[in-house]
Amino acid sequence: MSNSREAELLHTFKGIPFTTRSSPELLKSLDTFDAREDDLLLVSYPKSGTHWLAGVITKLYMTQVTVTSPIEFGDISRLEELNKLSSKRIIPTHLDYNMLPPNFKNKKCKMIYISRNPKDTAVSMFHYYRDNPNLPTVDTWAAFFDLFLKGNVVCGSWFDHFLSWAEHEDEKNILFLFYEDMKKDLPKVVKEITLFLNLNISDNDIQGICEKSSFSEMKNDTEKENSDPSHTVCALTSNRKLIFRKGAVGDWKNYFTPKQNIRFQEIFNEKMKLSKM
Ligand code: A3P
Repeated sequence: MSNSREAELLHTFKGIPFTTRSSPELLKSLDTFDAREDDLLLVSYPKSGTHWLAGVITKLYMTQVTVTSPIEFGDISRLEELNKLSSKRIIPTHLDYNMLPPNFKNKKCKMIYISRNPKDTAVSMFHYYRDNPNLPTVDTWAAFFDLFLKGNVVCGSWFDHFLSWAEHEDEKNILFLFYEDMKKDLPKVVKEITLFLNLNISDNDIQGICEKSSFSEMKNDTEKENSDPSHTVCALTSNRKLIFRKGAVGDWKNYFTPKQNIRFQEIFNEKMKLSKM
């Protein structure tokens, strides 16, 4: 990765790399952000299935809701725009738990954290680095693998991000979901979401929502511009077409060498040993 290009595209705030799409002034003022009791936060480390989750959730509401841009995206004027929204806000974010505006925690806003096998997340992020002009260039998978394990990528270490949230797994206002569970049995996960959000939706409707939220449907909608191509729930791009790549579980096996797998597993076991999850 070229250092000068990296320097142009990334900056560090509280030890975490952000793209210049998140201005330092905005990040500094997040602590004072005014949450509302009925805000819903969609939280993820990048490339964990955030758009999929957002696609499902918006279909669950009969009332007017707005999926905002991520709270850490843009300059300081964005926060003012969020304040002005009159409808219920569904707010995406890739923030670490410790950086989340305290008001969301104090008001016990509902939050859904979606996570994914970090090996697949790493592969998905590698492609994102290659395709997304807002991210530094990366030459090879081997080089990206090292950066990912060191946490030297945008949004920092996957392990730190996950652990910062997993510490709060017993809090009733936070629901933890896994991408792999959504792939295995989406209606079951959607049912769980409706119970968490106190939404009364029939099994039949849930089935229909799941069909409309399949990878191929969502990718087609984006390609045919049936959904706004310049609205994403990821602070790293506004180009929706960069999001729908493969949508599979286990793609890491096509990239990890046996040696990389052993190294990853050792670090995973070490870092995750204190987590109950
Ligand atoms: P891949 O790059 O492995 O294909 P995010 O929304 O957090 O940026 O995550 C993007 C990842 O979720 C991409 O993974 C994308 O293909 C996958 N994805 C998006 N919509 C999906 C869907 N409906 N079903 C399964 N995977 C989906």
